[in-house]
Amino acid sequence: MILPPLLLATLIASSCFTTFAFAATLLPNDEVDALEEIAHTLGKTDWNFTADPCSQQWGWATQNSSRGFENNVTCDCSFSNNTVCHVVSIVLKSQNLSGVLPELGKLPYLKEMY
Ligand SMILES: *[C@@H]1O[C@H](CO)[C@@H](O)[C@H](O)[C@H]1NC(C)=O
Ligand SMILES: *[C@@H]1O[C@H](CO)[C@@H](O)[C@H](O)[C@H]1NC(C)=O
Ligand SMILES: *[C@@H]1O[C@H](CO)[C@@H](O)[C@H](O)[C@H]1NC(C)=O
Ligand SMILES: *[C@@H]1O[C@H](CO)[C@@H](O)[C@H](O)[C@H]1NC(C)=O
Ligand SMILES: *[C@@H]1O[C@H](CO)[C@@H](O)[C@H](O)[C@H]1NC(C)=O
Repeated sequence: MILPPLLLATLIASSCFTTFAFAATLLPNDEVDALEEIAHTLGKTDWNFTADPCSQQWGWATQNSSRGFENNVTCDCSFSNNTVCHVVSIVLKSQNLSGVLPELGKLPYLKEMY
């Protein structure tokens, strides 16, 4: 079956929207707030808060081994029968960041902070 282009575009657009809306609600707001505080106090500008912090995309997971640079936020999304994510690791290596880390109490599932 060949779909007319307009219908196809609509299908793609609506599936993107659904994925984004679904993904965006998986991480509790408190944890997004905590990441925003970290980004603010450390002057970190490459995290894209329009995107899902658990996506491993849009600046949430990048690496450059030649400089030892690593930037990686990882989540465990298996909570409550795979409907809730929690940030479990934040790795920020060789990024020349300075500043004081904020209170991390809003990230109760964080196991690794490098
Ligand atoms: C941020 O992520 C969204 C997708 O979630 C993307 O559309 C947008 O272009 C990104 N912004 C930047 C500055 O990369
Ligand atoms: C980020 O960490 C996760 C879990 O350790 C790993 O699977 C992934 O490959 C890492 N991504 C990058 C870009 O380092
Ligand atoms: C990694 O860093 C090196 C040295 O700064 C640079 O030449 C290279 O283009 C970078 N690679 C990527 C994938 O950003
Ligand atoms: C978890 O989700 C699966 C698939 O949606 C469902 O079949 C199962 O009943 C759920 N389990 C609980 C404990 O809600
Ligand atoms: C790191 O940041 C400091 C202060 O902003 C700056 O003076 C220094 O040149 C930076 N070093 C590198 C390797 O980017």
